[in-house]
Amino acid sequence: MHTQVAILGAGPAGLFLSHLLHLQGIDSIIIESRSREYVEARLRAGVLEKGTVDALVEAGVGERLLREGLVHKGINFRFGGKDHPLDIRGLSGDKHVMVYGQQEVVKDLIAARLAAGGKILFEVQAKEILDLETAQPKVRISANGVEQEVTCDLVAGCDGFHGISRGTIPADILKTFERVYPFSWLGILAEAPPISEYVTNVYNEERGFALLSMRSRTLSRLYLQCDANEKLSDWSDGRIWDELDARLEGKDGRKLVRGPILQKGITPMRSFVAEPMSYRRLFLAGDAAHIVPPTGAKGMNLAIADIRVLSTAMIDFFKSGSTKLLDAYSDTCLRRVWKVERFSWSVTSMTHNFPQDNPFDRRMRTATLDYLTSSTASGQTFAENFVGLPLEPSLVEDHERDERTVMLTNK
Ligand code: FAD
Ligand code: DHB
Repeated sequence: MHTQVAILGAGPAGLFLSHLLHLQGIDSIIIESRSREYVEARLRAGVLEKGTVDALVEAGVGERLLREGLVHKGINFRFGGKDHPLDIRGLSGDKHVMVYGQQEVVKDLIAARLAAGGKILFEVQAKEILDLETAQPKVRISANGVEQEVTCDLVAGCDGFHGISRGTIPADILKTFERVYPFSWLGILAEAPPISEYVTNVYNEERGFALLSMRSRTLSRLYLQCDANEKLSDWSDGRIWDELDARLEGKDGRKLVRGPILQKGITPMRSFVAEPMSYRRLFLAGDAAHIVPPTGAKGMNLAIADIRVLSTAMIDFFKSGSTKLLDAYSDTCLRRVWKVERFSWSVTSMTHNFPQDNPFDRRMRTATLDYLTSSTASGQTFAENFVGLPLEPSLVEDHERDERTVMLTNK
């Protein structure tokens, strides 16, 4: 098999890249180890930044998103047993986010790709990426014990945190930065109306963090901070509802409406960045290159932002033969990635209890949230990050200057 771009992974990153390349007449093959049913049912993120929504709509895959997605003009923080809503629209210059499940984005992208005759190889595993230093790299793939090769011009590593792409970059070139948090999120999807029209971040000094989100007017998506080594089997439905209500505390007597729990899961919390995000003809995007803890709702948005930069660079390469934008891809993305890492880390730190905390640390968190929700300056900073930072301009010029400097110093 031959294609212009071999894409590992049919998550939001791989699917969106394949779609954008197709719109410019560039051929790709997506290699996905799981089945179509599995990736379409995988419950994950839910909040889409304005830039993500605009990019999907502009690419012609936002019709159902605009019809079924919920516009969120604000976000709520609950601490000290009281609600403190933040007017995101007013603080961000009339921008908003949308709530629309990641698996719905994935379904829309798969439908668009298949309708256009796109090639997605489901239940096919990428085993190895070879010959990256040549003009024709190869991906060795395997399905039902049968091995084959896909040759291509460029490889996109969109295969998530546990994929093979990142490990293909030689160890003496790849640098990784990581923080593993000493807690996890226990998440449920429940057939129950959301407590408020806003997503609510709850901080309780005694019991820790909870998040009250939604997927529709009748479906709640709820999360609880729990111990890192917590077992799902120790959490009966009743215990989950009781703990969520306990974290709301407060004299206003706010309680969740309970309903059948449709799905339950535990997600570990990690911040992670790999540098560089490219090596020769391999380009990493999304979770393959970086992970954020879900507080702040940035994971999928970051994956889509990478693809907006990468697709432009790949299209320029195929149309003009120039590698300028591809060469600058990693530096251009990393500049924004680190700012989003900073935001996700800071929102996690200000809303979660840590094992080493003393009462001062916990009261400091409440004070930080009080400042955030009562100061316009602080609210604006949060809102600017929450609706999504703009893409960085391509660092082509910086790159060329650095290359020239290296050449001069080598002389
Ligand atoms: P992925 O969606 O991970 O896609 C990678 C794909 O590559 C997968 O389909 C995988 O099967 C495939 N793959 C891997 N290895 C191979 C191989 N060798 N060969 C072929 N295919 C391969 N973010 C939030 O903002 N809020 C949340 O609540 C939230 N919850 C999450 C819960 C979990 C359990 C996880 C793992 C992530 C969560 N995230 C959340 C993060 C967000 O979902 C991710 O940032 C987003 O999925 C990144 O998209 P991606 O396309 O880069 O990677
Ligand atoms: C979801 C919402 C959030 O605000 C967040 O930080 C993580 C996840 C959600 O709706 O799944």
